Amino acid sequence: MEPLVLLVGVAVAVTFLFGGHVARLLTQRARLRRQVDRLPGPTAFPVLGTTHHFLLTPRADKLKMYNELIKKYGPVFRLWTTSIPDVILTKPQHYEAIINSPKHLEKSGFYKFMFPWLGTGLVTSSGQKWHSHRKMITPAFHLSILDSFIEVFADNCAILVDKLARRAGGSGFDIFPYITRCALDIICETAMGVAIHAQENADSEYVRTLSDIVELTAHRRERIWLHSDFVFYNTSAGRRYKKCLDILQGFTKEVIQKRKAVLSREMKIDHVSADEDSPCGIKKKAFLDLLIEIASKDGKLSDEEIREEVDTFMFAGHDTTASCVSWTMFMMGHHPEIQEKVFVELSEIFGDSQRRPTMKDLQGMKYLDRVIKETLRLYPAVPMIQRTLGEDVRIDDCVIPAGTNAIIMIYFAHRNPEHFPDPEQFDPDNFLPERVQGRHHFAFIPFSAGPRNCIGKRFALLEVKAMLAFVLRKYKIRSLEGREAVNPMPALVLKPLHGITVALTPRT
Ligand code: HEM
Repeated sequence: MEPLVLLVGVAVAVTFLFGGHVARLLTQRARLRRQVDRLPGPTAFPVLGTTHHFLLTPRADKLKMYNELIKKYGPVFRLWTTSIPDVILTKPQHYEAIINSPKHLEKSGFYKFMFPWLGTGLVTSSGQKWHSHRKMITPAFHLSILDSFIEVFADNCAILVDKLARRAGGSGFDIFPYITRCALDIICETAMGVAIHAQENADSEYVRTLSDIVELTAHRRERIWLHSDFVFYNTSAGRRYKKCLDILQGFTKEVIQKRKAVLSREMKIDHVSADEDSPCGIKKKAFLDLLIEIASKDGKLSDEEIREEVDTFMFAGHDTTASCVSWTMFMMGHHPEIQEKVFVELSEIFGDSQRRPTMKDLQGMKYLDRVIKETLRLYPAVPMIQRTLGEDVRIDDCVIPAGTNAIIMIYFAHRNPEHFPDPEQFDPDNFLPERVQGRHHFAFIPFSAGPRNCIGKRFALLEVKAMLAFVLRKYKIRSLEGREAVNPMPALVLKPLHGITVALTPRT
């Protein structure tokens, strides 16, 4: 048969078989484009969309750039990241239909650059896997389990206070790395049950690698030419990223194997001396132990799935709390009168005693709680979250079509003057019960909301309070840079561009 005849034959067959499908996809795509383009937004170019806005803006200026776009196009506008439609939402009134709905639980492509590291752990998974894992893991955050972690918080906060003693009384220094290392020690011990001693050994390979992988993930996401695996893994950043994966995942896998061996030994001993309170014989259980127990009971979690969840905790549970504690110190360093009120509250709880806090003490720190919340309002550790819409959503008089990437701008929602009349003013009384009562439910969502809210919220708030209480009982904090000088940057979490410079004065 002539090759031309063969080619035409194949083309006719393909059109016959798939033509309807292709035509449907093209019609859907054209409808999506028409609907999204009804929203205001900057000029979109073919292929590039509006990506040039981001390519030309350094990370430190991204929030300013979004602010300009909001001023120009209003609270709901669209962008095109190449051919992917993004709708930016800045008003709490618009969030309910998305984050409260079981129809929009899927995370957007924004998270896909975490897949090589975290696989489909809780943060990145969707569908049935997310649903069943969320159900399995939720009991691991029960108050009784969190209670057993207070001791870990205290052990590591005591080291933090010691480390800070060397800087106290002197000139200013960046407190952010100290807080980050303490948060890392805490999450490592609570998630994996091992101590990595990040505070004692700041230059450990694991600590450096964790910080590198977070930075490399943000670096890749910001550069569209690195989105292709082929290109990325052939750059020096991609090769470094691969090395990071080997180190981090190798470490977690080894910990899982060792922990499994210990647990199975303990379980055998346990059959002889049955101990109701401690079925595994391990007094202080890490999240990993609970995951291994679930796996051994129901066989529902493979080793790789356990690894994904443990690495997810390591990622989600350290930078976020470190950001929250550091920004809270920064704000208290600017508001000595507020800091003093926190100190008075701590003195009422502890008196002259040097004892460690209990769960009840931490829960009783009501004023500190308001200070933390007000900080999370102005400096939310997670400044934006994203979802791929599972079906069309009506926002005012617009329909945002299924398949669009909805960007929930927590950072800007928290500054909405309708809900916070003087938005830039730091006022912990914004969280007095009477003020909270009348406010829109989604006006303050640092831990997101709805079914995919932060599973670690209670853990985080207890840890943050423990760290702050330890430091504030010992030192007075003074911030040495103004708020305008400390540029918050949205990487994966909200970080200050050049750290947070404070001076500490020991309390007598
Ligand atoms: C101040 C500290 C924290 C803040 C502000 C925070 C905030 C958030 C936010 C906004 C989300 C939703 C993310 C999204 O939809 O993309 C989230 C999810 C999550 N967080 Fe946190 N987080 C904090 C601490 C923690 C801690 C300490 C842990 C673990 C120990 C943790 C574990 C998680 C997990 C596993 C998810 C995914 C939940 C799911 O999708 O089912 N977080 N967090």
